Amino acid sequence: MDFKELIEKRQSDRRYLDKEVEDEKIRMCIQAAILSPSACNAQPWTFVVINDKDLVEKVKVIASDGGINRFAYKAPVFVAIVLERESLMAGMGMVIQDKEYRLMDVGMAAEHFCLMATELGLGTCMMGWFAEKKLKKLLNVPDKKRIPLLISIGYPDTKHREKQRKDFSQVCKYNSYK
Ligand SMILES: Cc1cc2nc3c(=O)[nH]c(=O)nc-3n(C[C@H](O)[C@H](O)[C@H](O)COP(=O)(O)O)c2cc1C
Repeated sequence: MDFKELIEKRQSDRRYLDKEVEDEKIRMCIQAAILSPSACNAQPWTFVVINDKDLVEKVKVIASDGGINRFAYKAPVFVAIVLERESLMAGMGMVIQDKEYRLMDVGMAAEHFCLMATELGLGTCMMGWFAEKKLKKLLNVPDKKRIPLLISIGYPDTKHREKQRKDFSQVCKYNSYK
């Protein structure tokens, strides 16, 4: 699969087969995320893999808290991304530039993860909506840290969907914003 095929194939998969995901594949996805760029190479992330069956059951409830992500009940594995402290340099840059580099970093790492999963025949869905406090407690993440994203992962039970995207001309301008 070339890169264009890969980015077209990746989609948010919200249905999964009842099939175990090999740990080797999860590790490959995390390795791909580790190769992601980050501001000042701070790598402000920890990936917590949830594949213990009892724990997965609890995360399903937490992921679907509020009724938004009910599909998570079908997911066999989850990966929570814990936001870590930025490096001194990145921290200074964040203050001076007033930019949240760490969230950009985590977003890119998450996409690397999902693209690798696609290449391996797996389906993923990034979730920004879940009961974060409950998840932190369950995973022993200190209360002051954040979990910006939870990713569900499994063998997809879905067909490829046509991408719904804004028109090129709506989102790309040459030489001037206007
Ligand atoms: C930061 C972020 C948070 C997201 N949160 C959720 C979520 O909580 N639940 C969900 O079903 N999808 C979530 N998504 C998936 C988006 O809905 C999805 O990427 C978008 O609709 C485009 O569809 P595609 O991923 O299939 O191309 C999230 C995606 C991102 C990048």
